[in-house]
Amino acid sequence: MEIRDLTPEDLDDVLDLRKRSFGPLTADDGERWRKAVLPSLGEGRYLGAFEGEQLAAAARLRRFTQWWHGRPQPMAGVAGVTVNPEYRGRGVGTRIMHAVVHRAAELGDALAALYPATTAIYRGVGFEHAGALHNVRLSAEVLRAIRPSGQVKLRRMGPGDAAELMAVLHRVHGAARSSGPISWDEDTWNLRLADEDDFRYLADDGYAVYRWRGESMEVENIVAASPDTLRALWSLVGSASTIAREVVASVAPDDPVLWLLRERTKEEVSQVRWMFRVLDVAAAVERRGFPADAACEAVVTVEDPIRGGGTWRLDISGGSGTATPAEGDGVTLSVNGFSALYAGIPVRTLRLTGLMSGDDRYDQALGTAFATKPYMLDYF
Ligand SMILES: CC(C)(COP(=O)(O)OP(=O)(O)OC[C@H]1O[C@@H](n2cnc3c(N)ncnc32)[C@H](O)[C@@H]1OP(=O)(O)O)[C@@H](O)C(=O)NCCC(=O)NCCS
Repeated sequence: MEIRDLTPEDLDDVLDLRKRSFGPLTADDGERWRKAVLPSLGEGRYLGAFEGEQLAAAARLRRFTQWWHGRPQPMAGVAGVTVNPEYRGRGVGTRIMHAVVHRAAELGDALAALYPATTAIYRGVGFEHAGALHNVRLSAEVLRAIRPSGQVKLRRMGPGDAAELMAVLHRVHGAARSSGPISWDEDTWNLRLADEDDFRYLADDGYAVYRWRGESMEVENIVAASPDTLRALWSLVGSASTIAREVVASVAPDDPVLWLLRERTKEEVSQVRWMFRVLDVAAAVERRGFPADAACEAVVTVEDPIRGGGTWRLDISGGSGTATPAEGDGVTLSVNGFSALYAGIPVRTLRLTGLMSGDDRYDQALGTAFATKPYMLDYF
């Protein structure tokens, strides 16, 4: 079986594979998909596995920015992992995922993430559960009760506003020390900003993207860095309360809007889990932010049968970290375990599940340095 970059001539077969995997697509959706994936073909971000001429599997690596403790870095968002039905159950999915892991590292990404439809295949290539997309169901009336305060200038966004929107995301997630949220690349933002069914508003320090979903409102993203902008954006959505009774919103687990609600008792939150993998230990540590007062010196062995693994000395202080090759015994983590640690999963969980073993003298310091609550606001 050969794994190679997909070309525009392969797209009919890939579309057929997607239909066999995810269900029927309208002609319009098919065209939208073609338009969205074409640029990734020239970037080495769409792989196919072939048996002779026949397409057996495909997987796409999306170009994202992801924030970790407030610092942005490139991340490969793995999507569209599909194996044609007649090739399933024979290790083809695993083989294309090996190629994806190597390709993402070659492209310079130190991290990869994905939303799994099943876990074993991804765990087998080093991904581990990290965070979730949280969707909360709220009554529109409780959002209407959030009164805007102050004068916030909001303007409608459209195609062409991608660069400004991305600048807002950098400011907001940097200041909030966010872990997990992603930004699409500029081309993808411009395509998304052309969707005529979405309502989009931009402020100097925040933005909202929301839309009708049946008789309810669906909030894709509301991100705000100041109390006035937070109120202004959520009250926009709440103003639909005469027609939309319910709002389903993607929120951070500690999203400030949840503390603005007058009533909050039983809450219906659905979580769509995402899995996460460190591809390059040294680059991932260097690119991550850490709490300014965390201090940690630890010797860590990461076992990574696909990327190679090794032993590193981690030095974390003043909000930054480095990982330098080292000798000796320290704590041992599978790459799944190290990825989970990086994503803030508590050391105790890692020890009890066998993802981390050996020397425990660094546990407290590692746990404090990497502690974070990762989330995403976008599905891909
Ligand atoms: C999921 C999918 C990619 C797996 O591909 P595959 O080539 O059959 O997978 P592999 O043979 O490499 O199996 C890898 C592991 O996944 C497990 N697995 C495969 N299909 C599975 C399924 N449908 N449910 C649960 N586990 C499954 C295998 O048992 C194996 O685990 P093991 O190593 O512990 O035994 C393929 O079935 C598919 O394309 N499904 C439809 C689309 C889809 O769901 N894509 C995933 C989107 S995130």
